[in-house]
Amino acid sequence: MDLHETSLAERVGVAPAPVLPQHPDVAAWRPATTADIDGIWQLRRAMGEVDHPNYLTARGAIAADFGYSHFHAELDSLVGIDAAGSILAVGMVMFPPRQVSLVRSMPIGGVHPRLRGRGIGRQLLAWQLGRAKQQLASSTTTLPGWILSYADERSPQNAALFEHAGLSLARYFLTLERPLDASVRVIDPAAGIRVAAYTAAVSAEVHRTRDDSFMDHWGSQPMSDENWNAFVGGKWFRPDLSFVAYGTDAAGTEQVVGFVLSTANENIWAMQGFTGSYIDLVGVLSGWRGRHIAQSLLAAQLAAGQALGHERVTLAVDSASPTGALGLYTGMGFVPTHKKMAYTLEF
Ligand SMILES: CC(C)(COP(=O)(O)OP(=O)(O)OC[C@H]1O[C@@H](n2cnc3c(N)ncnc32)[C@H](O)[C@@H]1OP(=O)(O)O)[C@@H](O)C(=O)NCCC(=O)NCCS
Repeated sequence: MDLHETSLAERVGVAPAPVLPQHPDVAAWRPATTADIDGIWQLRRAMGEVDHPNYLTARGAIAADFGYSHFHAELDSLVGIDAAGSILAVGMVMFPPRQVSLVRSMPIGGVHPRLRGRGIGRQLLAWQLGRAKQQLASSTTTLPGWILSYADERSPQNAALFEHAGLSLARYFLTLERPLDASVRVIDPAAGIRVAAYTAAVSAEVHRTRDDSFMDHWGSQPMSDENWNAFVGGKWFRPDLSFVAYGTDAAGTEQVVGFVLSTANENIWAMQGFTGSYIDLVGVLSGWRGRHIAQSLLAAQLAAGQALGHERVTLAVDSASPTGALGLYTGMGFVPTHKKMAYTLEF
C-alpha cells in the first residue's frame, strides 16, 4: 500500500467526541461491559437469524473481543437498552494492533430486527464512525487508514446505511460450500512436502506463516498474539480438521509453508441445515505457491470431515483474490452460495 505524505492524524483532521444517539424507542445509551456479553450475543443472534442465517456469531467471539487489551469498552462500545435493561442495539469499534501496511478501524454491531426502519441504526452508525475517526486520528503513521465494515447481500438495508453514511463498496466476499460426497479424494502433496495435522506445538510458527502469507490478502494485517490465541484456543477451533504443510529448503531445514485452519460451531448446525466445518484460514507462503500445497491441505481437511460424517464444508473468499483463491476452491468442488460486501471509508 502506498504511503501518504501526511500523517493519518492530519488526513482525518479534527475528530470530536462521537454524538450519542437519541431516539424515543431507546431508553438509554451506555458503554457495554463484560456483564453485557450474553445480552449482546442474544441480540447478535436475533440479527444474524435475519441478516445471514447460515452463520451466527459465537458467544466466544464476543467474549474474545472484550478480552483484547486494545478494546476499551468504555470508549469503543455503545449499547442501547430498553426500560427493562434489555439490549436493543449494539455498536463496537475494533482497532486492532499490528497494523503494518494499513490502519483499520472496524465498526461492528446493529439494531434488533423488530426495531429496524426507525432511524436507530443511522444514529448508531454515526456514533461508530465518529469513534472510528478518533481511532484513526490517534495514528501518526503515513499509512492509509480505513474504516472497514461488512454487509450481507441478504440485508440490503445494511448496505444502504453504509452508502448513506459515505462508505463505498470495495469488495465482494463469497461464501462457498462443498458437499462431502463421493468425489472427496486425498491429494498427495508434491515431493518434498509433508502434510500433517495441526498441533498446539506449531502454533507460533503457523501464526507467523499466516501473517506472511496474508500480506497480499485484501484488507488483512498481521494478527496480534491475543487475537491468534483466541482463535486457536477458541471453543470451536478444530485441530483434527486443521492441517499444516511442511517444506524442506535447500539447506535441508523443514519449515511450515502452508496451513488450513478450521472451526465447527455445532450450535448452528440445525439452523444452517447441515453438519460440517468452516475453513477460517488457508494460506501458503509466496515462495511455495503453485505446487498444489493448498490443494493437498484442503483435500486433507475434506477427507477428515467426511470421516467424521460431516455433510459439508464452508468457507469465504475474496471474489477478486489476486492469488487465485476463488479458482482454487471452485476447482475443488466448492460452489458459491452467498455474498457479502466490504465497505470502506478511506483516509
Ligand atoms: C490462495 C493460496 C492459498 C493458494 O496456494 P497454492 O499452494 O499456491 O495453491 P495450489 O498450488 O494448491 O493451487 C491449486 C489450484 O488453484 C488455482 N490457483 C492457485 N493459484 C492461482 C492463481 N494465482 N491464479 C489462478 N489460479 C490459481 C489453480 O487452479 C491451481 O491448480 P493448477 O495449478 O492445477 O491450475 C495462496 O496463493 C495464498 O496463500 N494466498 C494468500 C492468502 C489467501 O488469499 N488465502 C485464501 C483466503 S480465502
